Amino acid sequence: MINDKIWDSHDDELIFDSFNRPIISIRISLTNGCNFDCIYCHHDGMLLSESEMNSDEIYRILKVAKKLGVKKVRFSGGEPLLRNDIVEIIGKTSSLKFKDISITTNGVLLDKYGVDLIDAGLNRVNVSLDTLNPNTYKFITKRNCLDRVKSGILHVASLGLYPIKINMVVMSNLNDNEICDMFKFCEDNGLILQLIELMRSDHDGLYDEYHFDIGSLEEKFEKLAYKVKVRRFMQDRKKYYIGDGEVEIVKPMDNTKFCKNCSRIRITPEGFIKPCLLKNNNLIDIIGPIRNNLPENELEKIFLEGINNREPYYMI
Ligand code: 5AD
Repeated sequence: MINDKIWDSHDDELIFDSFNRPIISIRISLTNGCNFDCIYCHHDGMLLSESEMNSDEIYRILKVAKKLGVKKVRFSGGEPLLRNDIVEIIGKTSSLKFKDISITTNGVLLDKYGVDLIDAGLNRVNVSLDTLNPNTYKFITKRNCLDRVKSGILHVASLGLYPIKINMVVMSNLNDNEICDMFKFCEDNGLILQLIELMRSDHDGLYDEYHFDIGSLEEKFEKLAYKVKVRRFMQDRKKYYIGDGEVEIVKPMDNTKFCKNCSRIRITPEGFIKPCLLKNNNLIDIIGPIRNNLPENELEKIFLEGINNREPYYMI
């Protein structure tokens, strides 16, 4: 097994939380809005009803994050490509010279924005695609646009965007019989497959009906893989190299591992620092101070407070 290295231990710019976890990436949810209605959606970030941050405000937060040593940026939603200033947001972020800028998207607007996003400095995308079966796709997303999403993915792949990751939430009796087909689709098109364990959400009964024990796949992959990597600061998730493809397993419910090496800080669309994906009661307001024109050193203190509020969920 190989440990991958996403930061240099001699990197003195890195910032650590009180559990000695480095804060390597920032995940900004850009909007509560979404053009899909997925059965499993955990509505990350959808907590408040205040107005969304504008691109200058996002830039100011990112500037502070960069100064404090954060290396990577990921934009998510809702659906981030619904923001009509998404290209501008990527462009402004790009001027800050992070190591990596990525987006998590449902992919339906990738054909429209792909070229402009890449020109503006986007490095990577993660696309939600749980199935290759149009009926299952419609059942999961309530939308009829599987072909458009697939062609959007292939479009950005053809533009050289790499790596492209495919998020597949594995669900019993829904798409668990498609893992091989999804792997093949990804292998054939140079995409990385991420198999994600279903988390509890506010949809009653969904978890009990569809939860699939993703850990059961590990033994199978272990036998098939010619190389396995443990992604230490990616929540200890494992990546298997099989044939010409790569598959990762993400277990958000395995708190000990998910939290132990969590290296992310999150921002809600309204501009609140969210220290933990799984916890909503320790948000810190950074947008108010930005709108009150507080100087950068004051914003840094608030950002640090957000980092200090980080606590592994399994300890709570
Ligand atoms: N369980 C697991 N993953 C989820 N996602 C959203 N809701 C859930 C859930 N309940 C993930 C999916 C999607 C991304 C935007 O968030 O992987 O691709």
